[in-house]
Amino acid sequence: MKVLETERLILRPFTMEDLQDVHREVFSDPEVCHFYCGKTRTPEETAEWLAYRITEWKYSRFGRLAVVLKDTQEFTGFVGLEAYPNSFSRLPDDPQPRHNEVEVELSFAFGKRYWGKGYASEASRAMIRYAFDDLNMRRLVGGAAVENERSRKLQERLGFKVSLNAHPDWPGYVTVLDNGTQAAVAGAVHSAS
Ligand SMILES: CC(C)(COP(=O)(O)OP(=O)(O)OC[C@H]1O[C@@H](n2cnc3c(N)ncnc32)[C@H](O)[C@@H]1OP(=O)(O)O)[C@@H](O)C(=O)NCCC(=O)NCCS
Repeated sequence: MKVLETERLILRPFTMEDLQDVHREVFSDPEVCHFYCGKTRTPEETAEWLAYRITEWKYSRFGRLAVVLKDTQEFTGFVGLEAYPNSFSRLPDDPQPRHNEVEVELSFAFGKRYWGKGYASEASRAMIRYAFDDLNMRRLVGGAAVENERSRKLQERLGFKVSLNAHPDWPGYVTVLDNGTQAAVAGAVHSAS
């Protein structure tokens, strides 16, 4: 089932047939995993993750989508939306909120051989447009480790405002993209089905 389409990419729900590709490109690669999930996973752990992501999208139309090349259907990585109770990011304009908000972050990880080609930017723009235009979300709030230059640069390209995290216990960046920031969605082609 096709969900989102860009000039070079299709973003579609995962199937269990993606297991080998997801494991090879993302969860078995220490460099990809380092900033995404800490350490590599076993094939069984990847299978569990995949089953969860399939079910998540099936029932909610929210979560992660596989990103494949339009021409060859080759799996490159994934991009998605993740809701989380935010106890670790503090925004510069609200460094000590009384309560933790549930926020949604843009999540992404691509196989190393697909870095440096603009695929993550292209796929992210389509997912952001889906979040803002279809789901009518107010904003996306994420982050990045200071050393994760690629993630910071990607989020800057997408129009996220990048600030140092004001939480005293969590170094790194906090990133915010408000709905209505046109830079975020410029260039994306969108087709939902
Ligand atoms: C974060 C991550 C997705 C960024 O991937 P990326 O390929 O650097 O990001 P983009 O898709 O925006 O590609 C931009 C690069 O492609 C280049 N590029 C080449 N062809 C391009 C094209 N047609 N269009 C746009 N950019 C293109 C750009 O010049 C830029 O190059 P640069 O890195 O030398 O500046 C990737 O590094 C990754 O998967 N990391 C591991 C997981 C991770 O850290 N997740 C985030 C945790 S916070």
